[in-house]
Amino acid sequence: MNKFLIIPSILSANFCYLGHDIKTMIRAGCDLIHFDVMDNHYVPNLTMGPCILKSIKDNKIKVLFDVHLMASPVDSLIPLFFNLNVKFITIHPESTNHLDKTIQLIKKIGCSVGIALNPATSLHHLDYIIEKIDLILIMSVNPGFGGQIFLSYILKKIQHVRYLINKKKKSIILSVDGGINLSNIVKIIQSGADYVVIGSTIFHSQDYLKTIKALKDIAIL
Ligand code: DX5
Ligand code: ZN
Repeated sequence: MNKFLIIPSILSANFCYLGHDIKTMIRAGCDLIHFDVMDNHYVPNLTMGPCILKSIKDNKIKVLFDVHLMASPVDSLIPLFFNLNVKFITIHPESTNHLDKTIQLIKKIGCSVGIALNPATSLHHLDYIIEKIDLILIMSVNPGFGGQIFLSYILKKIQHVRYLINKKKKSIILSVDGGINLSNIVKIIQSGADYVVIGSTIFHSQDYLKTIKALKDIAIL
């Protein structure tokens, strides 16, 4: 995987104009949108659910979603994302008692599987499942809120996961989520990220298109 991609996180979008903001992302060339689902239990915040993806689909906005489930229990939520233009469903190993079964549930609805690792979560969680997954999401903030500061010690973890992936024959996407901006994106890509999930840097800027262009220009090595 060589091509790095910017994945906008709509947690920081203007929810009054969500459809408009997503269309702007598509115009910027972003055809995968990060969708943060928070339940006020696994994380201390409450956000969006599948009914929003249904509205987007019903309104014929053609885009794919990268659904990041920060919810526990998580198994009962997974089937609700069936047939809603979801490419990836990413879950946290700590949010389920039976990780293998949860991975099977995601595959059963035709989605690719992502595993999210919190800053302090050990890579050992990957030991017995790495062959079964499509994406690893390294959290560079503690999950729950947009606009937090990137934890710089996570750069080492990104490098470590890059090394683990390169040892595998199967291609697995390495995505990084949290606190990414114009000053740190280069280090993150150089450490081995394929995808960078970016919320507030894009949606709190005056001109989304200009900001995405600036991020791309600076990050193309
Ligand atoms: C944090 C979420 C992130 C968040 C990133 O818990 O998982 O996806 O939206 O937002 P920024 O880029 O503002 O850190
Ligand atoms: Zn996220």
